[in-house]
Amino acid sequence: MTVKEIFQTMDYGPAPESAEEALTWLVDQGSRFGHFIDGQFTKPATGFDSTNPATGEVLATLTQATQADVDSAVAAARKAQPKWEKLGGPGRARFLYAIARLLQKHSRLFAVLETLDNGKPIRESRDIDVPLAQRHFYYHAGMAQLMDDALPDRAALGVCGQIIPWNFPLLMLAWKIAPALAMGNTVVLKPAEYTSLTALLFADICRQAGLPAGVVNIVTGDGAVGEMIVNADVDKIAFTGSTAVGRRIREATAGTDKELTLELGGKSPYIVFDDADLDSAVEGLVDAIWFNQGQVCCAGSRLLVHEPVADRFYAKLRARMDKLRIGNPLDKSIDVGAIVDATQLKTITDMVAANSDGDMHQTACDLPAQGCFYPPTLITGLDTAHPLMQEEIFGPVLVATTFRTPSEAVELANNTRYGLAATLWTENINLALDVAPKLAAGVVWTNATNLFDAAAGFGGVRESGFGREGGWEGLTAYTKPKDAKKPLSLIAPFEGDKGPADGIDRTAKLYIGGKQARPDGGYSTPVYGKNGTLLGHAAQSNRKDVRNAVEAAQAAKGWAKTTGHLRAQILYYIAENMYARADEFAARLNALQGGRTGAQEVSDSINTLFTAAAWADKYDGQAHGVPIRGVALAMKEPTGVIAALCPDAHPLLGLVSLMAPAIAMGNRIILGASQPFPLVATDFYQILDTSDVPAGVVNILTGPHEALAGTMARHMDIDAVWSFSDPALSETIRKGSASNLKRTWIGTSLPTMRDTLTAATEVKNIWIPYGE
Ligand code: NAI
Repeated sequence: MTVKEIFQTMDYGPAPESAEEALTWLVDQGSRFGHFIDGQFTKPATGFDSTNPATGEVLATLTQATQADVDSAVAAARKAQPKWEKLGGPGRARFLYAIARLLQKHSRLFAVLETLDNGKPIRESRDIDVPLAQRHFYYHAGMAQLMDDALPDRAALGVCGQIIPWNFPLLMLAWKIAPALAMGNTVVLKPAEYTSLTALLFADICRQAGLPAGVVNIVTGDGAVGEMIVNADVDKIAFTGSTAVGRRIREATAGTDKELTLELGGKSPYIVFDDADLDSAVEGLVDAIWFNQGQVCCAGSRLLVHEPVADRFYAKLRARMDKLRIGNPLDKSIDVGAIVDATQLKTITDMVAANSDGDMHQTACDLPAQGCFYPPTLITGLDTAHPLMQEEIFGPVLVATTFRTPSEAVELANNTRYGLAATLWTENINLALDVAPKLAAGVVWTNATNLFDAAAGFGGVRESGFGREGGWEGLTAYTKPKDAKKPLSLIAPFEGDKGPADGIDRTAKLYIGGKQARPDGGYSTPVYGKNGTLLGHAAQSNRKDVRNAVEAAQAAKGWAKTTGHLRAQILYYIAENMYARADEFAARLNALQGGRTGAQEVSDSINTLFTAAAWADKYDGQAHGVPIRGVALAMKEPTGVIAALCPDAHPLLGLVSLMAPAIAMGNRIILGASQPFPLVATDFYQILDTSDVPAGVVNILTGPHEALAGTMARHMDIDAVWSFSDPALSETIRKGSASNLKRTWIGTSLPTMRDTLTAATEVKNIWIPYGE
């Protein structure tokens, strides 16, 4: 080839990375692996092959874990946990630093092994996966060091079961193991069956770092092993993978006290406005959808282009696609490597082949004769409800449509059951910062895409799951409050046979959309005081009442956009109005509950209202310094519509403790009043009426919680269900919540202000360019 020809074609020569060291490491291990349990590798047993998807060559044989293997891994983790926690933050930090340093030392070996096993380009495993995994251990070594100071009232959960997917095998392992260990937990981790090799190399690193036996345990196998871990005696399950499996895990853990975080799928929008730097936006797409062959949960897989520039943008994009290099993942100049496995390749191929809508463009290239390769694909002109615009393809396939106005862009972007990430391209900072808060997503990138850092939390809303990984918020998922609080007791309603003290029979109505509402079913229950006097009747709410309350709450969505200052003023106003009627409320509480604790409960409730008001404009987000020319704004957003069942005891304080922080953060709430003592809640709405609370922000239902719990949990327009009622309802609530993967919070003691503020907010990380 002449120099002139080289300049004309701009072809790169191959630049292959050697696989020798990694293959030698596999041979040194006997090319057969057992599990890593209690600090040792077990003897290899019956299992399955791990292959290189780029060539089909068998790399090693792995062992399918049995129930006995999982049990012994959990037992080892259980035994090691107390000592590991007692080691203290600084003691654990030393081990995490040691692991980080060893990951750094062996980074090339990790990168090559990852590429061999997964098929991703070496450029990515070398420059992204492995450095980010190291960064995660360094960052969390720091978190361990700071735990005693920064989180003095948090303790480890215990043993964590962690199940990870195949798209970022080492990186997902780091995201799971580093924070768990930092906070004093021990772990049993299962890598995905296609990609377990770097997890086993990591086990070797743990040994080299002198990590105490049992702190990290790794068992290999397929989904059946995942299920065994889910059902094992662990305190938490952390899962990353498909929404279908996530939903199954939610159901399987519903009747237990296991903590759960789910990081699931997505169909993330990539929005290009007409004033964007189009060439950069095209280059961004290479990172959004062709990074890791599109097998990325937050891939920018749904392109939305501003109509005036759409044709020009598509033309540039097609031209760029035709320059993508597809082939041997170990070649350093390759852009797109192999799909992880033939099964996944078939899923992608079938989904695209079944479609005949829109215009399809595929990178014109000769795919390697063997191995799992799929060409970069663009399908334009699909309507927003098209299955390919809605379903996660999890491959190098980009689907696109156009929009006319920013508000239409937001509407299209949010037209999905997912809410993981979103990307915005515009040169107009006003537009970017106007649109970012309106997107239903846990992460928003501006003029860049697929940026990750340990300091910035990652995770989604809606059916993309719940919980965050990374940042301060990620630690909540690996800790629990240190001190045991006084448990709430269940209270049977008083029975009676006397009529009303004043001879007047009163039936309290429900409170829906700022108005008193008759219950749909027309039934009510008598409420007696301790001495058997009839105090009134409380309505029995049914499914339709819940539906009406949800509609009212949804209609009040403007509340989320009000300022913290305004919400604080309204909460102060509620407190003032309650103060003015303190004696009346105290008397009502005494009549309902018997005894003389009413005055104290009113005073505590007023204090809670004032505290929530104080937090309304102070429970702020953070700006994370991320080591990429930018800043990640961790903004607190309201969770949405919350349904909350109040505790039996403390019928006023319990209600106020849930309501006040929730509305302070901009949520709308549907409260199920204390079951035995509902009438103080129905008095309370008179206070709401006189305190400028907009209609629909607070709705109050009465009646048996058993009936309310299931309806609330299954309702698709409720974002979270909190229950401080009968713990026996928790299974119904958690199972029902799997419908739209709503957040659940089951409390057994009066909620603290801090915990309620956390439950009432989601953190959205908005990455913006900043600095040099
Ligand atoms: P998957 O969700 O089945 O696998 C993820 C992990 O869960 C693996 O370790 C697997 O062994 C384990 N697992 C499977 N069934 C389980 C069960 N019942 N209980 C506990 N653990 C279980 O994902 P799969 O089948 O590998 O990929 C299918 C689709 O899932 C992909 O096409 C993609 O759409 C999506 N996916 C999403 C990921 C994400 O990061 N959001 C990652 C991987 C897949």
